Amino acid sequence: MELKLGRRAVAAAEADALILLETEGGKRSELAMPLAPLYDSGEISGKSLEFTLIHGVEGLKSKRVLVAGAGKPEKRDAAVLRRIASAAMRFLKGKGVVSAVFALDGADANPDAVAAVATGVLTGSWEPDRLKTNREGVRVGPAAVEIVVDSNDAAIDAAFERGRVIGEALNLSRDISVEPPNVLTPTAMAERARAVANTESLSFDVLDRDRMKQLGMGALLGVAQGSAEPPAMIVMQYKPQGETVNGHLGLIGKGVTFDTGGISIKPSDGMEKMKYDMAGGAAVIGAMQAIARLKPKVAVTGIVPAVENMPGSRAQRPGDIVKSLSGKTIEILNTDAEGRLILADAVTYAMQLGCTHLVDAATLTGAIAVALGFASSGVFTNNEDLRLRWMAAAQQAGEKMWHMPLDDEYREQLKTVYADIQNIGGRWGGACTAAMFLKEFAGDTPWVHVDVAGTAWFDDEKPYLAKGPTGVPLGSFVNLAMNWQ
Ligand code: BES
Ligand code: ZN
Ligand code: ZN
Repeated sequence: MELKLGRRAVAAAEADALILLETEGGKRSELAMPLAPLYDSGEISGKSLEFTLIHGVEGLKSKRVLVAGAGKPEKRDAAVLRRIASAAMRFLKGKGVVSAVFALDGADANPDAVAAVATGVLTGSWEPDRLKTNREGVRVGPAAVEIVVDSNDAAIDAAFERGRVIGEALNLSRDISVEPPNVLTPTAMAERARAVANTESLSFDVLDRDRMKQLGMGALLGVAQGSAEPPAMIVMQYKPQGETVNGHLGLIGKGVTFDTGGISIKPSDGMEKMKYDMAGGAAVIGAMQAIARLKPKVAVTGIVPAVENMPGSRAQRPGDIVKSLSGKTIEILNTDAEGRLILADAVTYAMQLGCTHLVDAATLTGAIAVALGFASSGVFTNNEDLRLRWMAAAQQAGEKMWHMPLDDEYREQLKTVYADIQNIGGRWGGACTAAMFLKEFAGDTPWVHVDVAGTAWFDDEKPYLAKGPTGVPLGSFVNLAMNWQ
């Protein structure tokens, strides 16, 4: 899709559809006369996500007007605007609208709103149907969208760019996540990352099985050994030029391209969904693209341990004990708790590469969805300062996060006499014991763990987002880097 920024009065905009925000309880003066019956009947109330499409409105040059309910002004933050912009794009699909103008006037003509709308327009245009060859019945949305503001604020240009870059990165991440597991193998995922790194001039490295063996990544290799697909430890690095700030941020994403559970095999019902077990990794790859374009002042290394968890004849068994890169030994009691194993080695490797602060994102446990459902990701940490920075970045991105406990008591459940730690706790608090396992490997390095098992994928489409991958927590990753000081 072609996305542009324009500056002029909204009434002068000419397009197949002019999108105008309407405040709840308000009445747009330029529409009040011709649309009076719609306002009077309550068909236009301005409630959030209410859409009314009208053809041939007197006094406006555009063929149609889409009045987009934007709710009460006090609730209209960046997250709300992003959803409205996204939903507007989805509403227009299949309606023969090729060009659209998204108007932001009055108080809405500000940098944050422009960034939010730019992101929303892009994410709302994305569909998970790339591999459908029969395009009949596929509803097409606008091909060209212009965001028109009636303001000369110079900060709007940079905001538009930031919003666009984040929207494009979210869609890249969703493209990668939605790929089927026969196509998106660990090797293919590494190639996707390499392509991004090459285009964006990021340093790139990928460790193969031999290098992992040399280094001693026994925890990751144990998971990988049940699959015919070789593992890949993907490393993408951004170094700021010019003005820099202290710190080296490590972003780590779980990249299990398919999780059968291994020998502790999962039930077949719903197993196909486990293709999204690499969504954390895809968010890292997308975030690195955005970071390369937006150029924060902090150094950022993106790491994606990519493996397939299969029950092949060489697969690891419950009872196996592996030696991790950190030197700590791990007793495997359940081969389906594989995410924490590959992340343990990725966390240690990030520290070896010099990262001073770590954030990992992983579809780690079903238990986090039991605890929080699908609205909020679970956040665990060993460092309150980094957590607060993370929460602020997430709030700005409109990605909901909830602080979960990580008290010493949870460590009890991971004790074993045979090794330093075992890879599962008991029945209760599964998301917390998984996080506790990771904490063991982060040591004293400030670290935040984000369990996105409930939030990285929508089973049903929403007015503002297609079914499938959401890209979470990419926006938080990017904002964390951009706000670093
Ligand atoms: N990838 C799964 C977690 C998951 C479950 C993600 C549902 C998305 C939706 C993870 O590898 C896993 O299997 N975790 C187990 C841990 C258990 C064996 C301690 C789980 O959550 O059941
Ligand atoms: Zn698993
Ligand atoms: Zn998994």
